Amino acid sequence: MCGIVGIVGQTPVAPLIVDALKRLEYRGYDSAGVATVERGELSRRRAEGKLVNLERRLEAEPLSGTIGIGHTRWATHGVPNETNAHPHFADEVAVVHNGIIENFAELREELKRDGYVFQSQTDTEVVAHLISRELRGGAEPIEAAHNALKRLQGAFALAIMFKGDEDLIIGARNGPPLAVGHGQGEMYLGSDAIALAPFTNAITYLEDGDWAVVRRNKVQIFDIDGNPVKRQRQQSVGTSYLVDKGNHRHFMEKEIHEQPEVISHTLAHYLDFISGKTREMDLPFDFAKLDRLAISACGTAYLAGLISKYWFERYARLPVDIDIASEFRYREMPLAKNSAALFVSQSGETADTLASLRYCRSEGVPIGAIVNVRGSTIARESNVTLPTLAGPEIGVASTKAFTCQLSVLASLAVRAAAERGTIDEEEEKRLVRQLSEAPRFASQVLKLDGQIEKVARELAKVNHVLYLGRDTSYPLAMEGALKLKEISYIHAEGYAAGELKHGPIALIDENMPVIVIAPHDRIFEKTVSNMQEVAARGGRIILITDETGAKRAGIETFETIVLPDMPEFIAPIVYALPVQLLAYYTAVQMGTDVDQPRNLAKSVTVE
Ligand code: F6R
Repeated sequence: MCGIVGIVGQTPVAPLIVDALKRLEYRGYDSAGVATVERGELSRRRAEGKLVNLERRLEAEPLSGTIGIGHTRWATHGVPNETNAHPHFADEVAVVHNGIIENFAELREELKRDGYVFQSQTDTEVVAHLISRELRGGAEPIEAAHNALKRLQGAFALAIMFKGDEDLIIGARNGPPLAVGHGQGEMYLGSDAIALAPFTNAITYLEDGDWAVVRRNKVQIFDIDGNPVKRQRQQSVGTSYLVDKGNHRHFMEKEIHEQPEVISHTLAHYLDFISGKTREMDLPFDFAKLDRLAISACGTAYLAGLISKYWFERYARLPVDIDIASEFRYREMPLAKNSAALFVSQSGETADTLASLRYCRSEGVPIGAIVNVRGSTIARESNVTLPTLAGPEIGVASTKAFTCQLSVLASLAVRAAAERGTIDEEEEKRLVRQLSEAPRFASQVLKLDGQIEKVARELAKVNHVLYLGRDTSYPLAMEGALKLKEISYIHAEGYAAGELKHGPIALIDENMPVIVIAPHDRIFEKTVSNMQEVAARGGRIILITDETGAKRAGIETFETIVLPDMPEFIAPIVYALPVQLLAYYTAVQMGTDVDQPRNLAKSVTVE
């Protein structure tokens, strides 16, 4: 969940490293640090908290080295203080690390027995000491690093630098991604191509087990046995454009606005709009033969899965078991003989989702992964990757990844229904056509931002908010509450509207805003009854509905946000946008850190 960078440059690299770290800060922001080699000596600056603290430190005490490594941290081993901040040093070695060294405790004991003294509580520091021990034993830096790498178990992306060598960084990958960037007389390492976008778009991705010797004018890549390997150099097109906020105040705002385009790209990947059929998906199972489908994910991705349960069951008559991955992994669920499993994850690195996937794999169940980050662990470990084409999502709160996940899941549900014969060709065409309209409706909905901002000014004054919905709007109500909680820090609950009277109705009074998500669908009238119950108790209703729903609700609301009438099937994809905007504007009004809310990180690689 951390981000790492390395630069072998021509000019002082610390400002460039900080610039690259800014684009990686979505991965964690508990502390940050930079080390360079200056006149042969290792020097570093580290600071607790966000990068801005490190920037201030560097302004006061600049680093002048033309080679350096940097890190932005999401704390796992050890509290987020300066001592535990990377880079970690051991005599003549400096290391930054993303991932977890699983055998660190054993290695630490071994190194301690050899007299090595640890400064931090991190797992990373063992890497620096291991290399240092190799150097003391007479190995050259490259050999020392290679020998140390062979001792490591777990997941890691590393950048390693040496005292006295101003033309050498060693990068290594086992699990978390690491990219080499090729410049003119300069070379780079970064956790992703985005970090390196302003410097170069010529990228080589390391594969698992690879390690690279990076110098100003040359990069050599080896496998774990030390054999040279060839990895393709790629052009990473437009990445700097993608990570720019453009005219938007926050990445989250930009990502909300990108949705019409990325939903469209994603749908076009799975659907042939001309024939009105789904495209070939190379699935490792046959929907027609499945008795059950298991879906597992965390947070927003889980809620996308929950919405799809309605689709798979309704259109394909395929029963779905949907679970939060942190529960699923320990539940020892018996999996039906003719079952398949889907895992949904933006990052493709979420530890609980990955563990659930591994459980299913051990049970011999065929696995599909719906992921946004290609080459991620979840993608690699599944039988088929079903990508969301959302592009990099930088805001910690998931927005465009969610609607792209829904787009993939909806396409799969159509596919399942067609294969199972629960819909005929005409119906398949109709559903595909409806999906093709989702981007257009999403664009229209974005124009409601002025009204939504006005409602958000009211939400920013309260401490609690209730979200209600039925059917696919119920998981969306939970998603609305999750979005509001995580970025505005206002307590919110998402409830099934019909469940209100079984408890939560006790919360309703004139101070409780109740956001009701209610497209005019088959159960609209039922939701209206639940709204009546709220209105009768003085609750302030904010109704998100369509033109028909607004006409037929017959209820006095505090505000009604009116979307165009649209097919019921695509409503959850489109209704996600006002829900996201409401949370976004509320957070802006509250003055919170929208893109990097407190205590959170973009990819959660720990339990
Ligand atoms: C909420 C949010 C999280 C993630 C969850 C799973 O806005 O972003 O709830 O959805 O941490 O992450 P991925 O999708 O990377 O597995």
